[in-house]
Formats: sequence, structure tokens, C-alpha cells
Amino acid sequence: MKILLLCSGGDAPGMNRFIYDLYDAFKDEVYFALAGFNGLINGEIYPLGKVIKNGDRDSAGTIIKTSRCPEFKQKRYVKIGVNNAKDFDYVVICGGNGSERGAKEIFENGIKTIFVPGTIDNDVNDNHYSMGFSTAVKECVYAVKNTMPSIQAMTRSCLFEVMGRDFGAIAEETAKQVDADYVVQDKKTLDYEKMTKAILKKYVKGQSSCIIVRENIEKIEKIANKLNKMLGLDIVRCHIVGRTQRGGTPTEEELVMSDKFAGGVVDVIRHGRVGRVLANKNKQIVLKKFN
Ligand code: F6P
Repeated sequence: MKILLLCSGGDAPGMNRFIYDLYDAFKDEVYFALAGFNGLINGEIYPLGKVIKNGDRDSAGTIIKTSRCPEFKQKRYVKIGVNNAKDFDYVVICGGNGSERGAKEIFENGIKTIFVPGTIDNDVNDNHYSMGFSTAVKECVYAVKNTMPSIQAMTRSCLFEVMGRDFGAIAEETAKQVDADYVVQDKKTLDYEKMTKAILKKYVKGQSSCIIVRENIEKIEKIANKLNKMLGLDIVRCHIVGRTQRGGTPTEEELVMSDKFAGGVVDVIRHGRVGRVLANKNKQIVLKKFN
């Protein structure tokens, strides 16, 4: 048996654990395409054993690299990728919803394909947990907890920008865990009246407030400036949590989920099946068809 593995899109903590688990199960039967669909198109395909070494298993990032590959939206590149994939009995693709579209293309071209959700954004359809989410939220919570004492010392308010591309899951979960005063997860919730109200409610009591804002809605500095103007004060500051969300050490929950996803893939391959290996509401692994 020959299995080809690739990661695609933004890296997600937990991917390495997943990769090592597949190596443990299939050893020299596993190959990887370097940096996702780009490696598949360019024929940069190598035995996974080449990059396996002690120490990386539980670290963030991905030892087989990842990248964005807009070319894979074009038929001629899909054709090249599919041609290279034909040497394998299975192709396993780990990534977000863009990568899922790529996986579906390969599947529809007659290759036995498995898609696994690996993205901090947790935005994969029909799926309740994707690799990376727990770690990303942990890093956001850490940033809030380590910033707020300074904000409190000056009775200020802080806006925390978190990732998620155009999906509000990280913002929502972080807000819940830190008991934020307000959360902006989409254009609709970018409500300046509500934000000033939340800030003032605390400020009049000599307390500070914390607002979580999803990226890609409005520039965080612009939001802070507007709030300060509306308040007639200079108390709103901002903090961009940034790439620690992807590079942070995977949480225990992350590693457990990566093991579960890998177990699901092993099972599906051993039964000769194909599809999307997803997590249901109870974080149990389920196999669903490509939509
Ligand atoms: O998809 C994961 C993600 O981290 C998003 O949350 C973010 O918008 C994007 O990737 C950043 O992409 P890049 O690393 O390519 O700049």
C-alpha cells in the first residue's frame, strides 16, 4: 500500500501529532507532498520516514510543510496533481475548507481520498472540532489574561484581535472563556453603541473592560480610535494576538483530538473506504461523504 499525505492552508497545532500517528500505523507506506498541493503539482513527493525524528511529535507547525495554492482552483493544475496522485492507493489531506475543495477535486478524479479538518478557524462544514482550535483559543485566553492586569491598573479598556479569517469561532470561544464584556464576531456585531455602553458600564465603577474582535472586520486601531472619540476619553487600547495562535504548544485536548483523527483515518483506510473524517458534537470521529 502507498499512502500520500499532505497538509494544506494555514498550519494548525496538532498536525504533527497526526502525521506521526499515521507514520506509526503505516510506516514506510506513507509518503508526503511537500507544502501541500504545491508539492503535489510539482512532484515534490518523498517518503515520510525521511522527515520523522525525535522531538517534533507534539510541537506546533507541520514537518511536511504547508502552503496556500490558489493554482489548484485551475483545472490544468488539478490534472497535474491528479496525475501525480495516481501512483498512490490513498491521498490524505489535512486542512481547512479551502483544502477540502481541493480534496474533493482529487476524489472526483477517481483517487481514493480522505479529508481531515486541520485549521485553527474551526470553519469546516458538518464538523464540530478541527485540529488547532483548542490551542488557538488557549493562546488568545493567555494573551487576555496577561494583558488585562496592565489595562486594569490604568482603568482602560482593551480590544483583542483574534484570528478566524471570516468565521467567529475563536472570538466566540475566547470571549466565553475570559468572560469578555463584548464580542465582535461579524459585521453585524460591530456595534459601536453597544461597545461604548459596555465600556462605560465598567468605567463608571472604576473597572476596566475587555472586548474580543475577530480579524478581517475592521482595522482594530480604527475601532479603538472611533471608540475613544465617541467616549470623549483616551482609554481604549488594542492588542493583536497574532501568530502564537498557530505556533503555540498544542493543548492536551488538541493532542487527544489529533490521535482520534489519525485513528479515524487508519480505520477508514483499513476498511478501504473514502470521505471526510470529521468530529461530531461529542467529538467522536465520523466518516461523511464529500458534499
Ligand atoms: O486559516 C488560518 C489562518 O490563521 C486564519 O485565521 C488567518 O486569517 C489566516 O490563516 C492567515 O493566513 P496566512 O498565514 O497565510 O497569512
